[in-house]
Amino acid sequence: MTNTTKQDRVLIFDTTLRDGEQSPGATMTHDEKIEIAEMLDDMGVDIIEAGFPIASEGDFKAVSEIAERSKNSRICGLARANFTDIDRCWEAIKHAEQSRIHTFIGTSELHRAIPNLTMDEMADKIHETVSHARNLCENVQWSPMDATRTEWDYLCRVVEIAIKAGATTINIPDTVGYTAPDESADLIRNLITTVPGADEVVFATHCHNDLGMATANSLAAVAGGARQIECTINGLGERAGNTALEEVVMALKTRNDIMPWHTGIDTTKIMAISRRVATVSGFPVQFNKAIVGKNAFAHESGIHQDGMLKNRENFEIMLPEDVGLSGTSLPLGKHSGRAALRDKLEHLGFDVGDNQLKDVFVRFKDLADRKKEVFDDDIIALMRTGEDAENDRLKLVTLRVACGTGGPAEATMVMSVDGENKTAICQGDGPVDAAFNAVREVHPNKAHLQLYQVHAVTEGTDAQATVSVRLEEDGNIATGQSADTDTVVASAKAYIHALNRLMVRRGKMGEGADNREINWKDVT
Ligand code: KIV
Ligand code: ZN
Repeated sequence: MTNTTKQDRVLIFDTTLRDGEQSPGATMTHDEKIEIAEMLDDMGVDIIEAGFPIASEGDFKAVSEIAERSKNSRICGLARANFTDIDRCWEAIKHAEQSRIHTFIGTSELHRAIPNLTMDEMADKIHETVSHARNLCENVQWSPMDATRTEWDYLCRVVEIAIKAGATTINIPDTVGYTAPDESADLIRNLITTVPGADEVVFATHCHNDLGMATANSLAAVAGGARQIECTINGLGERAGNTALEEVVMALKTRNDIMPWHTGIDTTKIMAISRRVATVSGFPVQFNKAIVGKNAFAHESGIHQDGMLKNRENFEIMLPEDVGLSGTSLPLGKHSGRAALRDKLEHLGFDVGDNQLKDVFVRFKDLADRKKEVFDDDIIALMRTGEDAENDRLKLVTLRVACGTGGPAEATMVMSVDGENKTAICQGDGPVDAAFNAVREVHPNKAHLQLYQVHAVTEGTDAQATVSVRLEEDGNIATGQSADTDTVVASAKAYIHALNRLMVRRGKMGEGADNREINWKDVT
């Protein structure tokens, strides 16, 4: 493939499982990574960056299994600029039908100072490592990390070296989200016209969102000749995140008149994967997030509703159906049966087996008994909770809380620990604090509460609350979620869910799994 602007196909390189997962607190379990990779493969992602195989035994296993199971996508692993990383990466991806080694090194003055390499020494290292990767794999991507702050002459020099050493894709990362659209387009355009051999490779753009310009910068890079966009679902990623896949894909689809490029993404799968990534990462999508936010297609103000009724194009530039939002949203109730629930789940993009349906149906009935109407968002919240339940070592059995004016709140809790019921009565500064104290009394732990977040799923005082709890213990981070019409019950369950996940993580760490051993500053 060449980079002439005549070519209209833009490759989508998804790095939710690598750059996205690198975001503190967004760690996913092995099974969750496999599931997300399957969804990415199924929606038409061209390249999946499945992880960083040298980082841990857990990352290696996840990348290997994703490589073995991939059907359509090319599977890529990340490696720093050394032979050990590259060999380990190749071991993990070599069984994929189509594989890619992605190797990188920080080339800006600031990044060169970390390994303390001169420009010449770094240039030699790039030649050696890219050549080594190319001897293993016919498809090699090379990235000069912090490219947008690298001296122009040096950037041209190292890109040329990487191409000569056999790189097939050159990725230009805006690692700290520093560039702006015009600059992003010019950088790619100038590299393509200046560097010998540039027309033999694909240029990619990899933007971070620190100034909120990642989507604009990525699209500008395409205008400048890039033919691969690196992105993540929901824009997940370190700090302010990466370019959001759903934004660039829908922008190219909606404004094809001025951006005449297309992707291979089945856009109707966007909502389902967005919800799944939000659930497994524990990073909720902000309500007004473009494309996938709860309000992205909601028209509440009187003027907007009136305009919409007259002609939906007045306020809608995309069809909700195009991103996989169901057109109808009739609520279910306590008389709705299993078939209606299955139908609703399918509409919402959830593919459930018979066993899972049985489990969700029990929880749906329980909810419908307490709530007159069960809306789509209630069903989505149900699907987000109750996972791992069978294997959980800690379970909430009962919880009563006395609270209000005139004294501290008091929680009486029965919790099952490895099948044995234990009771605690604890006071606290409010009902949630009392309930959390009771959990700690039954199951003493030194996990530090990093995040406690409550959202009302729908309107009304009988609305369910979804609660997210993020815990940290000895560098391990786990997120728990739950939903209930009782906010305190949802909070206690989310806390217990996070503790269960933390125990799994701790257990795996014993074998060296899921423990990030990589120091990201040590990138040579
Ligand atoms: O942001 C960045 O520079 C990266 C590289 C590893 C490509 O994620
Ligand atoms: Zn990045």
